[in-house]
Amino acid sequence: MNLPNYKEARKREKNYKRISYILDKKYIGKYSEKKYFLKTYGCQMNEHDSENIKALLEKMGFIEIEEYEHADLILLNTCSIRENAHNKAFGMLGRLKHLKEKRKDLIVGLCGCMAQEEGVIDQIMKKYKFVNFVFGTHNINHLPEIVDKAIIKNKQEIEVFSKEGDLIENMPVRRANSYKAYVNIIYGCDKFCTYCIVPFTRGGERSRRKEDILKEIDSLVKDGYQEVTLLGQNVNAYGKDLYDDYGLGDLLEDVSKTNIPRIRFTTSHPWDFTDKMIDIIAKYDNIMPSIHLPLQSGSSKILKLMGRRYTKESYLELFNKMKEKIPNVAISTDIIVGFPGETEEDFLETLEVVEHCKYDNAFTFIYSKRENTAAAKLKDEISQSEKENRLQRLNNIVNKYFLEKNKKLVGCTVEVLTEGKSPKKENLYYGYTKTNKLVNFDGQNIKEGELVSVKITDAKTWSLDGKVFK
Ligand code: SAH
Ligand code: SF4
Ligand code: F3S
Repeated sequence: MNLPNYKEARKREKNYKRISYILDKKYIGKYSEKKYFLKTYGCQMNEHDSENIKALLEKMGFIEIEEYEHADLILLNTCSIRENAHNKAFGMLGRLKHLKEKRKDLIVGLCGCMAQEEGVIDQIMKKYKFVNFVFGTHNINHLPEIVDKAIIKNKQEIEVFSKEGDLIENMPVRRANSYKAYVNIIYGCDKFCTYCIVPFTRGGERSRRKEDILKEIDSLVKDGYQEVTLLGQNVNAYGKDLYDDYGLGDLLEDVSKTNIPRIRFTTSHPWDFTDKMIDIIAKYDNIMPSIHLPLQSGSSKILKLMGRRYTKESYLELFNKMKEKIPNVAISTDIIVGFPGETEEDFLETLEVVEHCKYDNAFTFIYSKRENTAAAKLKDEISQSEKENRLQRLNNIVNKYFLEKNKKLVGCTVEVLTEGKSPKKENLYYGYTKTNKLVNFDGQNIKEGELVSVKITDAKTWSLDGKVFK
């Protein structure tokens, strides 16, 4: 039994190891015939972790099924970022409790970011005793022994480590797609934005070696992949813990030379976005002109309280530079409203920045107090209805610009990476542009993962319509 510990989680000791994964032979195929159901909440990092989890379970013999009611093993890969992510996972645990009453042999597990929270584990030990096992974000590689133990023993098994995890290379992976792939480049986050739980759930910043990343991408290219998304909570910090003079700009340049047709990366913190990175994105055609640049707030006062390390002015300067230097760049963002101390004037400053930036996409949230973060100690005097009102006003403006931006594309021909076929209509496909816009388009005999030229015929707020252009 190992329980999460916030004091440990706050430390940044950097004494992790680099390990090449080896699966103990005794687990291979041990549970053939058994069925599993995995539900993933949260960000791309969790989605990618789930690709490793699926591969490990399948090596143990488990077969994935879509309906949890028929599974022998149910695993929830959870997210802690906001209260509603918690609520969803606990809601699902409530349903599983009933199922478990009917099926005593059902094995239920929980992993991911919520597993790293002291309060969550406390609740699981007291109120959700039926959960058979829990493991955290730092020991996914221990899944086979944890699952095996949980099946054999009849007691709740909690194995969560708060110390940053080792860097494990060569973990088995069962990718969700055969044409686009996630590739981790850096784990963890050292930024400690005051509202955010991620530095506690994901540990310190740890970069993968460039050789390991490039080797993985080379093999994806060989397998016919068209797109990679380089992943990290703050990809701009890539390399700082590992090299004197090799950062995200250099890595993007090297990844570009693998000739993979499309390169994306997420997420970028505005604070350490360098001119070199901008120049490299502008220079290489296969680095997508699509940047996620979270603003969070347009008020320098709130940004300071959030611990974001930039001001409204320095954000705008960076934004303008990107627009100027990267042809046709699309910039998306994240914004939080209702952070403690946010006045109407502060909020109006956010709207002002949004009016200037006219984002191509924006994810907007009401501030959610997270256990153990610095902001949790701030007095939150804004009423729920005021928070909702601000969110609504913000959404009205961001949505207006999505539509405006999309309308500008009508009549243009754009490159689309085909993702699939509409189940509703014959010869209707969908995919994404270089700037990450969803396009529904007419065509014939197009394969998943095929890059096609599409002429845009109509624009909506969230998507575009088009026709394959020959
Ligand atoms: N590493 C990314 C953010 C990952 S979390 C970055 O720094 O850009 C994704 C988004 O969730 C954040 O950008 C923020 O807008 C939002 N978020 C994080 N913590 C939150 C909280 N406590 N309440 C509301 N939104 C939050
Ligand atoms: Fe959270 Fe800030 Fe780190 Fe992003 S950079 S994961 S918002 S602490
Ligand atoms: Fe959620 Fe953890 Fe990602 S908190 S947003 S799953 S890093």
